[in-house]
Amino acid sequence: MKIQRYEPISKKCRELLHGADYNPDQWMKTPEIWDEDMRLMKLAGCNVMSVGIFSWSSLEPEEGRFEFDWLDTILDKMAENKVYAILATPTGSKPAWMSQKYPEILRVQENRQRNLHGQRHNHCFTSPLYREKASIINRKLAERYKDHPALIAWHISNEYGGECHCELCQEAFRSWLKNKYHNDLEGLNHAWWTGFWSHRFNDWSQLESPSPHGENLVHGHNLDWKRFVTDQTIDFYKNEIKPLRELTPDIPVTTNFMGTYTGLNYWKFAKEVDVVSWDSYPSWHNDYDKAWELASDISFVQDINRSLKGGKPFMLMESTPSLVNWQPTCKLKRPGMHLLSSIQALAHGSDTVQYFQWRKGRGSSEKFHGAVVDHCGHENTRVFGDVAQVGLALKKLEDVVGTTVRPEVAIIYDWENRWAIDDAQGFSKDRRNYEQTCKVHYRTFWNKGVPVDVIDMDCDFSNYKLLVAPMLYMVRPGVGERIEEFVKSGGSFVTTYASGYVDENDLCFLGGFPGPLRKVTGIWAEEIDSLYPTDSNGIILPDGCMPGLKREYKAVDFCELIHAETAQTLGVYSKDFYAGRPALTVNSFGQGKAWYMAARFDEGFLTDFYSSLIAQLELKKVLGTELPPGVTAQVRSDGFNEYIFVMNFSEEQRIVDFGEDKAEDMLTGEKGLASVLLKPYGAAVLRRVNC
Ligand code: GLA
Ligand code: ZN
Repeated sequence: MKIQRYEPISKKCRELLHGADYNPDQWMKTPEIWDEDMRLMKLAGCNVMSVGIFSWSSLEPEEGRFEFDWLDTILDKMAENKVYAILATPTGSKPAWMSQKYPEILRVQENRQRNLHGQRHNHCFTSPLYREKASIINRKLAERYKDHPALIAWHISNEYGGECHCELCQEAFRSWLKNKYHNDLEGLNHAWWTGFWSHRFNDWSQLESPSPHGENLVHGHNLDWKRFVTDQTIDFYKNEIKPLRELTPDIPVTTNFMGTYTGLNYWKFAKEVDVVSWDSYPSWHNDYDKAWELASDISFVQDINRSLKGGKPFMLMESTPSLVNWQPTCKLKRPGMHLLSSIQALAHGSDTVQYFQWRKGRGSSEKFHGAVVDHCGHENTRVFGDVAQVGLALKKLEDVVGTTVRPEVAIIYDWENRWAIDDAQGFSKDRRNYEQTCKVHYRTFWNKGVPVDVIDMDCDFSNYKLLVAPMLYMVRPGVGERIEEFVKSGGSFVTTYASGYVDENDLCFLGGFPGPLRKVTGIWAEEIDSLYPTDSNGIILPDGCMPGLKREYKAVDFCELIHAETAQTLGVYSKDFYAGRPALTVNSFGQGKAWYMAARFDEGFLTDFYSSLIAQLELKKVLGTELPPGVTAQVRSDGFNEYIFVMNFSEEQRIVDFGEDKAEDMLTGEKGLASVLLKPYGAAVLRRVNC
């Protein structure tokens, strides 16, 4: 697929954006701080601020009385100082008067208890009243600021999440179900398998949301509820953006996602935003991950965010310049890590580096959260220096805006599949780890600098050479056929144990697992064995079965007992009563091949297996040479220039060789480089002309 540069996030600016959540309304009593903020923003190389995220009580202190003077002043100051505004709608939290007068807007928990006023993200997403209030304030903001020179994008609410179980939501859920099942209650009874435990419904009014003290074991029900929550949240969001679309049709709209947050299916939500944005808070330097493993896991999530809109650059809406206040241990970013982790976001397709938050507040629960400006109030801090360094780097990297990557590899990480896996009873409850499993399959590509898209199962597969689908437990209608088509026309497909068990309603496939994947994989999975943490099995691979593989590897957690039907057995189990039975198979199907890993093999196996596939399929690496441990290389391109991000997540100095290639280091300006020396947590961005 030919690469072309995307338009920048806003027509008003062609730069990479650098900034933070900015809460000037917390400093109304000391407006001199606002001027100091402007001075410091310039010093830090910041050109954007997200304003007004939780400002409702400052914007509408009493019902129907609006106060915009403070925001006028701030936006004018920002425009004067060439700082763009991403203006937020304030619905992430609401004024006390509103909850007091209209208690129906308060969220009801799963246990059917209504929350008191307080905290944030505490509203009902169905309440017509809350929707109306949101619509009024949003319209006022759009009317007032539609032509403001600072405005470049809308930040809708904040981190939508959670669910409400009030009567209004129950009614909405019932209507959603009626619509989904075309008014056919029998259809619902079948999809939810309600013959089980006498769960049949004979009237729509009997249906309600899952609850800890009510129904929560009907898997189709749980799935539909989660789908409803996504749809209802999107519906709420659509109500929020209506006045903005009407009054500011050219201003892009986004809402900040939360990585792999399970509560919302971001694949559905992404269709409704103009640009994807997300908040990233890795626990760098923890004592349980190696730095590079955590880095690879974060890259995986960055890749989801780029893939959500088919490769379109996204925004890193929040990250911390130093520490967070909510992790069990709030460790500072070590020297180098701030620039490195910011470059990492760019490397995977972000056109922004933004923080929570600009200035530390004096009170309340986030007063110790990292910020660009600390309580000391001046610029002479380590963190401010780190931020200013990122500001300088982003200026040098401006050409990267709008560029992207077209990987040859895709990994399926699917939200609905995750819901179904997490809900299943059986296997080993605490070791299914779907997300972590996908991340471990991703690592070899990261280590070798092979770009990857992370997609859901409804995406188009046809542009990839290799499609990896770990634990594809749920297979929605048409997916099996599309995978067959992909392999038939020459694609390579890898899947694992626990795939092809259930359909979109979480009903088991009849006639043998992996259901719709049986033909393409050429195997039948008869049983699955769960291993205790102290157990293990192994796989034995005869010499030469696959280049680069060793004779033996470990298998843990899950071992499926499979039959090779049309598939060829590459490796067999080493132990237990199923010793000698197939553990790894490959099936030639049309012009392509499908591999099946019947067990959860150790990471050594995955490294060798995927390295072998990368070689066999001649998958493109960003650099032609081997990367040293802990270093990855990622690429973005406009079809002519390639921007190569080389990042060292190890604590040692590394030298990266480019082989024949000569490149320019965009950060230092050095040209004609054949290698680069990276300090611990060091990064380089190279420009290479690709003819
Ligand atoms: C989230 C929120 C922010 C802030 C940060 C703290 O991402 O969106 O308002 O609370 O967490 O890490
Ligand atoms: Zn509700």
